[in-house]
Amino acid sequence: MLNLETLCTQVCKSAREAGAFIRTEQKKIKAGQVETKSRNSLVTYVDKQSEAMLVKALGTLLPGSAFIAEEGTVSNADNKGPYSNYQWVIDPLDGTTNFIHGIPCFAVSIGLHRDQVPVLGVVYEVNMDECFYAWEGSPAYLNGSVIKVSATSKLEDSLLATGFPYYDHGQEEEYMLLFRQFMRSTRGLRRLGSAATDLAYVACGRFEAFYEYSLQPWDVSAGAFLVQQAGGKVCDFQGGKDFIFGKSIVACNDGVFTELMHHVNHYF
Ligand code: IPD
Ligand code: CA
Ligand code: CA
Repeated sequence: MLNLETLCTQVCKSAREAGAFIRTEQKKIKAGQVETKSRNSLVTYVDKQSEAMLVKALGTLLPGSAFIAEEGTVSNADNKGPYSNYQWVIDPLDGTTNFIHGIPCFAVSIGLHRDQVPVLGVVYEVNMDECFYAWEGSPAYLNGSVIKVSATSKLEDSLLATGFPYYDHGQEEEYMLLFRQFMRSTRGLRRLGSAATDLAYVACGRFEAFYEYSLQPWDVSAGAFLVQQAGGKVCDFQGGKDFIFGKSIVACNDGVFTELMHHVNHYF
């Protein structure tokens, strides 16, 4: 029987190793080493090597497990073996634009699904050296201490995080109206540039809520699981459960959920 607590400790170690690599390379990276995948979607050798390190380490932990990883460096997703119903969902460097521009907020994000259900999440924010983690049935932790979502119950006392779509502008009008609504009805909004970190910060109560659309599974799998294990709520813009693959997500504490979703539902 797989011990998820032991596995989580090993996953945190791998996330920290990838993070240490990213931290070292940030001092060396040059403008010429930035590639463009598509408009405003940037990648570097650091993203790719971090992913290769993680795929190797995690594949060894669960032989035969599958992978969804942003940079597609996966080679051993053969789905044969004792752990073929497990799938890692990895963003090897969440916050690449920050990384390239020298802005200190980026993370390694590792989710694990068993039969399509999230059972483990690790987000390691590199510059603050903060490792957020949880496994099925556990509380959420930050560097060894239990964390919880905030107890704030009013939107007017809340600090929100969001992101601005880089290339999918399809719902821009509604998004801007919702943004204006929250500008007027909250304590403020932040745009950190790393969705995994945004979610980890909801889990530990720094933000009351986070919302964004056009995200990918590797941006949100681990962080959404952390929020749930920390006592928070996560849903898509319609209030449903399709927030990992469905490209819209709202994550928040219990207290502001109803008020927050009232506004989201007005525009979406
Ligand atoms: C991005 C970050 C950002 C979000 C973008 C993502 P990347 O991930 O999470 O906060 O707004 O939509 O693509 O590209 O840095 O891994
Ligand atoms: Ca990402
Ligand atoms: Ca990334």
